[in-house]
Amino acid sequence: MRMYDIIVNKRDGLRLTEEEIHYFIQNYVHGKIPDYQISALLMAIYLNGMTSEETAQLTLEMVKSGDTIDLSRISGLKVDKHSTGGVGDKATLIVAPIVAACGLPVAKMSGRGLGHTGGTIDKLESVTGFRAELTVDQFIEQVNEKRLAIVGQSGNLTPADKKLYALRDVTATVDSIPLIASSIMSKKIAAGADAIVLDVKVGSGAFMKTFDEAVKLSKEMVAIGENLGRSTVAIISDMDQPLGYAVGNSLEVYEAIQTLKGNGPQDLLEVCIKLSSYMLLLGQLANNEGEAEVMATQAIDDGSAYACFLEFMQAQGADLQILINQEESLISKENCKIITAKHSGFIQHISASQIGHASMILGAGRETKESAIDYFAGVRLLRKPGEFVQVGEQIAEAYSTKADIGQALSLIQQAYIIGDHSIDQPALIKAIIT
Ligand code: URA
Repeated sequence: MRMYDIIVNKRDGLRLTEEEIHYFIQNYVHGKIPDYQISALLMAIYLNGMTSEETAQLTLEMVKSGDTIDLSRISGLKVDKHSTGGVGDKATLIVAPIVAACGLPVAKMSGRGLGHTGGTIDKLESVTGFRAELTVDQFIEQVNEKRLAIVGQSGNLTPADKKLYALRDVTATVDSIPLIASSIMSKKIAAGADAIVLDVKVGSGAFMKTFDEAVKLSKEMVAIGENLGRSTVAIISDMDQPLGYAVGNSLEVYEAIQTLKGNGPQDLLEVCIKLSSYMLLLGQLANNEGEAEVMATQAIDDGSAYACFLEFMQAQGADLQILINQEESLISKENCKIITAKHSGFIQHISASQIGHASMILGAGRETKESAIDYFAGVRLLRKPGEFVQVGEQIAEAYSTKADIGQALSLIQQAYIIGDHSIDQPALIKAIIT
């Protein structure tokens, strides 16, 4: 078999065989196929797509490319969650302690951010002392003791995804349905999930820009999960506007803590309760959605979710004083610039992609895998769509230690669309695909 022929087949719109998919994944992981040939194949997949069978086969080959985690030493169903990525998406920091407080063991492997979408591990590492690297034994022990552990992806889990994702990121082939579906589902299967809740984002700040694309991606991932014996649900939610008010690592940890303490933004809370309730349902801790939502809400109201968060953070080395004195420790007030409204009116829209881009320029995201990030950098929205603002009123804060942030400040200004009419908020939860 030759890599050249595989590229030709996909370029000409043919279906790749199991043998061809096996050949290119295994040989790429072992360094036997150069990046330039895989780049050509990725672009052919991007342009011509894959059938559901090809996508499922690709997922399985990616799982087989590395280690898999055995979570059988943790009793009960292990339900995982994964977001397709968005701006200000700190849901894992809230959902994981909620469901753990309700009795569901959460053994979660999360990623770092790349580009304008943040990663859970970067957010957690913005808290001094937090350790994202645990051995598999420590990871399992912590889940058995505290019901919750969140770690970075272990060294040899789906190495095919690590290599392919890095290449997709620089070859404009990230936002492809078969490539996203196989990337996400291979990681979830390899990480030992019995059931999976997918948080599929749609809108300007997400990889899927339209509802139809988001439904297609969701159906593809649900089918892969179900075919492999994992109950899978996809919840499609809006990412045209940032989720909550905070975008940037420590700013998001602060907002997550406020939410766990019952003082969070309504949109963020709504998404988190929905995700938590489906995790509880798949984990068979609730009989129906209504019951699951009551359990999740109760975990916030009675403080058990926040207590669980503190315990897990402390177990992974986080400095508790930082979490307790959140405002002073997580928000760097001396590096804050204010953005004001250019004219009076109702806020019609805040572009998630422009806020995400601004936050990256301020230092919160990585341009390349090697870039260092500034944990305290980012954007805090002070006003949200539907609200009336007067000209000159403060609408957002930009946090950065960089001197030259003019472009970021004007992006934040442009992200706010202010008009004459009041608006109805679009629905946040768009669909649930089972
Ligand atoms: N998240 C992933 O894990 N993989 C993708 O391809 C896109 C988002």
